[in-house]
Amino acid sequence: MRAYDVVKPLFFQLPAETAHRLVHQGLAIAQGTPIESVLSRRYQIADPRLSVDTMGLSFPNPVGVAAGFDKNAEAPGPLAALGFGHVEIGGVTAERQSGNPRPRLFRLREDRALINRMGFNNHGADEIGDRLSRLALPDVPIGVNIGKSKTTPLADAPDDYEYTYERVADAGDYFVVNVSSPNTPGLRDLQQRGPLVDILSRLKDAGASPLLVKLSPNLTEEATDDALSVVEDLDLDGVIAVNTSTDRPASLRSDNRVEEGGLSGAPIEHAATERVRYVANNVDVPVIGVGGVSSAEGAYRKIKAGASVVQLYTALVYEGPSLAQEINEGLLELLERDGFDSIEDAIGVDA
Ligand code: FNR
Repeated sequence: MRAYDVVKPLFFQLPAETAHRLVHQGLAIAQGTPIESVLSRRYQIADPRLSVDTMGLSFPNPVGVAAGFDKNAEAPGPLAALGFGHVEIGGVTAERQSGNPRPRLFRLREDRALINRMGFNNHGADEIGDRLSRLALPDVPIGVNIGKSKTTPLADAPDDYEYTYERVADAGDYFVVNVSSPNTPGLRDLQQRGPLVDILSRLKDAGASPLLVKLSPNLTEEATDDALSVVEDLDLDGVIAVNTSTDRPASLRSDNRVEEGGLSGAPIEHAATERVRYVANNVDVPVIGVGGVSSAEGAYRKIKAGASVVQLYTALVYEGPSLAQEINEGLLELLERDGFDSIEDAIGVDA
C-alpha cells in the first residue's frame, strides 16, 4: 500500500482546488531546500535507457509534468525530485489574473477524470519571470506555457504572447504557445492559420527556441491540418498534443460531467493518443504526448504512437506522488520485454 492511498480519502473530502493547493504548497515549501535531495533519492530513477535527446534538450526520462499543475513556477525543483523528467510551468499570461469564480475544478472520481474551468489564474509574467530568474532550477528541462490575458483583444494577442515570452525567455528551456485552453473566450480561434502565424512568427522573431504549439483535441481534421501546416511553414520545433477536451464521452458516469470546462484524465486517453499518432504521421517534428497518461503502459502507448516524451496532470491526483517513479520503472520493464535498448528506439514504432 502506498502512503498516498492513506491520505487520498482525506484529500478527496476537500474541494478539488483546496486539495491541490495543499499539495502544491507542500511541494513549494520544499523548493530549494534539502528536502529535494531526500525526495530525489527516494523517487528519481537514473537510467540512461530512459533519457531522450530531442529539440536540442536532454530529458533524463520521458515523463513530465503538464502545464497547469505549477502555474506560477513555485515547485519545479520538488517536481523534478519526484522523478519527473521535465516540468512545464504556466499557463503564464502577460497580466496577473484571478481566473474564473470558484468552484472551477471538479473531480469525476468514477471516471478518473477532472473538469476544470480555471481560466488562466496566475501571478502574471512579471512576477513569474522574476521568480524563475531567482530560483535554483532543477537539472531537467523547464518549459514555459504561455497563454493570452483575458482582457487582451484577440487582435492584440501577438503583443501579449511576446510580452510574456520576453519575461521568461532567460529561464525557460522551451516555450509553448497555448492556443487550446477552452476556458479563455475566443482563445481556441487563435489556432486558425492567420492568427497562429502572427503569434508564432512574432515569438520566433523574438528568439523563442525551441518553440512549440499546443493543440486542442477538439479541432477537426481540417483545422488540425491547417495548424500543422503552420508548424511546417514556420519551421517550429514541436507540437504538444493535447489540451483538455470539451467533448463529454457517453461513458462518463460522475455527476460532475455536466460541469463546463475542459475534461482531462482517463476518458481522453485514447483520443489523445490517436492525436499524437496523427500529428506524428503528418508533420516531421517532435511530439509531446499528453492526455490521460496514468501508467507505464499508457505512457508507452503514446511513445510508440510517436511521442518523444509525455506529460501528465490528472493522474497525479488519483495516483499520487510516486507516479513518475512507477511509470519510469514500468517503462524499463516494457523496454526489456519488447527488446528495445532505449525509449528513443521505441518512439513512433506504431505511428
Ligand atoms: C490544465 N491544462 C493546461 N494546459 C495548458 O496548456 N495551460 C494551462 O494553463 C493548463 N491548466 C490546466 C489546469 C488544470 C486544473 C488541468 C487539469 C489541466 C491541461 C493539461 O496541461 C493537459 O493538457 C490536460 O490536463 C491533459 O492531461 P491529463 O491531465 O489527462 O494528464
